[in-house]
Amino acid sequence: MPLPWSSPLPLMLAPMQGLTNRGLRRVYGKHVQPDLLFTEFVRVRPGAPQPVAASDFVEAVSVVPGIPLVVQVIGCASEGVVEATTELVANGVEHINVNMGCPWGRMTSVLAGGGMFRAPETVAPMLRKLRAIVPGSLSVKTRTGIDDERQIFDVLPAFADAGIDFLVVHSRTVAQKYRGQANHALTTEIVAALDLPVIANGDVRSVADAEAVLAQTGAAGLMLGRGALADPHLFGRIRGTAPLTPTTEQRKAELTALWHDLLDDYVEIFAGDAQVLSKFGSLTRHVDHPELKRWLKGLKKAKRVAQLRAALDR
Ligand SMILES: Cc1cc2nc3c(=O)[nH]c(=O)nc-3n(C[C@H](O)[C@H](O)[C@H](O)COP(=O)(O)O)c2cc1C
Repeated sequence: MPLPWSSPLPLMLAPMQGLTNRGLRRVYGKHVQPDLLFTEFVRVRPGAPQPVAASDFVEAVSVVPGIPLVVQVIGCASEGVVEATTELVANGVEHINVNMGCPWGRMTSVLAGGGMFRAPETVAPMLRKLRAIVPGSLSVKTRTGIDDERQIFDVLPAFADAGIDFLVVHSRTVAQKYRGQANHALTTEIVAALDLPVIANGDVRSVADAEAVLAQTGAAGLMLGRGALADPHLFGRIRGTAPLTPTTEQRKAELTALWHDLLDDYVEIFAGDAQVLSKFGSLTRHVDHPELKRWLKGLKKAKRVAQLRAALDR
């Protein structure tokens, strides 16, 4: 299967629940052009008449022109992940990613997300079934284990045997959640052990981080999560197309332009000012620029979208 990117160094925007909705993806596509976009995870609904919720379908088919969209599913074979994927594909979805990393209880108490590490023997049969029905790329985004980071090596053969096209590794365990640092020494071992493109993910927040992780791991590309929320132009800085060390004014101008556009979309997608402001707040809290603290604090005080727009321009 051809890979869903053409760049020699693909830089992807990470799937982030509650954040990477179609509005944010469109705006990132317009302003900073990640090589690949991912949906928030689509939770397969076991036993429901429709295994995929109507709202998830809207997200799954909302493609930004020129940038492939990967739809992430979370579930397991016994919970209808194959049936859900069949429906997604019937509705035009091309690329599927399986979440093998979600650390939250609702997922890990069943064999979904990070919980799949509890039954590693189920991984290959499920991926083989998906491989047979997914027309575009099939990939997995994984953590390194439940609480033992070497558990990943038990499932690597399953990835290779099932013929997935690429693997995204967030090198933390499920138990770690977001604590500590991603262990990219382990990413290096995984890259060496596999014959398919491995994308490194975790704690890349600057060009220096990106260069260090690429040099250390030999990964085929990077996936950026919180770092791309804090600094959307990190994509361009790594590529050398955006200022490497922007001034505070430049950072503010970049964020203001992108966030105004995002608000246009959020007003359309979400119901009412309170919801728009709450969604917006969950994004801006990732920006930790010390000299923009006062400005960011001012944004938080807005009670209406109009006030927020005025505060953005202040
Ligand atoms: C708010 C939030 C929501 C997330 N939702 C998802 C998700 O839906 N699917 C997924 O695979 N990972 C999810 N993640 C994990 C990220 O994709 C990424 O693996 C993790 O944040 C590490 O990368 P980073 O250090 O670049 O942020 C989420 C992370 C955050 C912070």
